[in-house]
Amino acid sequence: MKDLIPYLTGAIAFIVIFIPVFFFSIRRASYKARELEKRAMNAERLAFVGTLAGGLAHEIKNPLSTININLQLLKEDMQNAADETGKRIYSKIHLLQKEIQRLDEILNDFLRFAREQKLELKGCDINEVLDDVVDFITPEMRQKKILILKSYDTSLPTCEIDANLIKQALLNVIINAEQAMEHGGELMIHTSRNKKHIQIDITDTGCGIPKNITHKIFQVYFSTKKTGTGLGLPTTKRLIEEHKGTISVQSEKGKGTNVCIKLPINLTLN
Ligand SMILES: Nc1ncnc2c1ncn2[C@@H]1O[C@H](COP(=O)(O)OP(=O)(O)O)[C@@H](O)[C@H]1O
Ligand SMILES: [Mg+2]
Repeated sequence: MKDLIPYLTGAIAFIVIFIPVFFFSIRRASYKARELEKRAMNAERLAFVGTLAGGLAHEIKNPLSTININLQLLKEDMQNAADETGKRIYSKIHLLQKEIQRLDEILNDFLRFAREQKLELKGCDINEVLDDVVDFITPEMRQKKILILKSYDTSLPTCEIDANLIKQALLNVIINAEQAMEHGGELMIHTSRNKKHIQIDITDTGCGIPKNITHKIFQVYFSTKKTGTGLGLPTTKRLIEEHKGTISVQSEKGKGTNVCIKLPINLTLN
């Protein structure tokens, strides 16, 4: 009997320790599998809803454009109206056209946000990509008395990006900077690098972001502007993250804002 004691102790230890651990592991594994399944179903549902909403936005754009063309024709007819009624109709048509333009902008922003993007990666010089965006925006900046100051690291390696999508992301940030400098100011665009990343800093001397809303600025539909869609920064974040990059914002109310974008030099997408 004495000889059996070590075996019995071993068997009891096995039952007490191993079996609960075994069942716990099985429960955890099945919980994880259920969680993964739930997440996959959610992702599928979200993608489906995104496609539906994108299709709907597209469908609305066509009749909207027809309405706009007809309003334009009506406006031309009323252009030389001399009587009060004619003038009133002319100004109402003008108002309707402005609202249609705004609807169109909302739909465009929405489509840019909802569109499922397939990245077309190509080796690009980030400084050149930035220059394309700057060239595009310069006339508007001049009008608004905004001085653009560029300081580029000229030794940047080429970066694997989808240039069109990165341009869209940068443009969203630059337009925000422009809108923050209502009375003019300076827009600084700086590039630098380390071993892993290329860094783009876009800094403005605009109104800045109050501390109590900083955590909201990447939320879909969050906007402090009268005619903002609140989709610019969420779209930018999504595009940058699809490139495995990061975006962060530092700001001081009344002084200005710095947006820092980091893109990996060796992008390997899974
Ligand atoms: N450079 C900036 N300066 C001040 N506020 C900014 C800046 N960039 C973003 N914001 C704030 O973040 C909000 C969200 O920006 P965004 O997603 O582009 O939407 P929208 O420009 O349509 O308002 C803006 O309404 C604004 O309050
Ligand atoms: Mg914006």
